[in-house]
Amino acid sequence: MPWDCAWGAQHGMGQHGMGEQADEQRRREEFLAIVSHEMRTPLTSIISFGELIRGEAEGLSPEGRRYLDIIERAADRLLRLVSDLLMLSRIEEGALPLDLAPVDVLRLVSDAVLAATPLAAKQDITIHLDATEGPMLRGDHRRLLQVLDNLIGNAVKFSHPHTLVRVTARFHAVRGPEGGTWRIGVIDTGIGIPPDEIERLFRRFARASNARTSGLPGTGLGLSIVKVITEMHGGHVRVHSVLGEGTRFSVILPVAGPAQGQLPGQRVGLS
Ligand SMILES: Nc1ncnc2c1ncn2[C@@H]1O[C@H](COP(=O)(O)OP(=O)(O)OP(=O)(O)O)[C@@H](O)[C@H]1O
Ligand SMILES: [Mg+2]
Repeated sequence: MPWDCAWGAQHGMGQHGMGEQADEQRRREEFLAIVSHEMRTPLTSIISFGELIRGEAEGLSPEGRRYLDIIERAADRLLRLVSDLLMLSRIEEGALPLDLAPVDVLRLVSDAVLAATPLAAKQDITIHLDATEGPMLRGDHRRLLQVLDNLIGNAVKFSHPHTLVRVTARFHAVRGPEGGTWRIGVIDTGIGIPPDEIERLFRRFARASNARTSGLPGTGLGLSIVKVITEMHGGHVRVHSVLGEGTRFSVILPVAGPAQGQLPGQRVGLS
């Protein structure tokens, strides 16, 4: 169970063991951050030179073009993996503070749906947006967009062709200084998740057994990014899934943003 922060607690380690465990964890994080960082430059070269060759594609045989497609897809995947890993370790270090400002939730969800639509269309999947008006949310638009990109990307990836993915946004008012919550839902009718595997999917590199056997690509980093960014905003994520029928992810965010004392960019426990 690599990179699992909760390991020590789960295995009832004493204070001393926990300290060693934390050091070990920190060393792994550092190592991962350095490796990820160093991999970015050569990867960017591979991608740029691949684009140059593609520009000269007329001189390539059909087989050569197919090989180039494979190289480009692999390099893109690796670059995404490296960027995700880097981002997670920077959040862990507290080196990636939130850029807090009033966020228009309607615009946020519309931007996310718009961005996912071309890929969904390729799989004959329609994304339907159903959002109501409500107050601005104190948050980081760019990071929250990452949360939605990951959830909608998953919903599309794990759906069957000719189906619908629904994205909803509702404001729930409460009296008092918190001012209520926004609930953003991403709902699909795809492969679903085995019930006993749901909880561990928020850990890095975790993928459900049915996703692994389906041959669908993925590294298992998206949901850990979703969790950590949502929690940095003082929110939480809920999942309801029925195997073989579909999944609903809900992101619940307080309009007031991170609570006092929970400064943006502070260390957030990854599990
Ligand atoms: N909408 C969904 N329907 C079914 N399974 C899902 C859904 N969303 C997530 N999962 C399960 O949770 C796992 C973890 O999701 P996560 O987004 O972290 O990883 P990934 O999509 O496999 O890879 P990555 O996001 O890093 O490209 C998935 O591999 C899949 O097993
Ligand atoms: Mg994903």
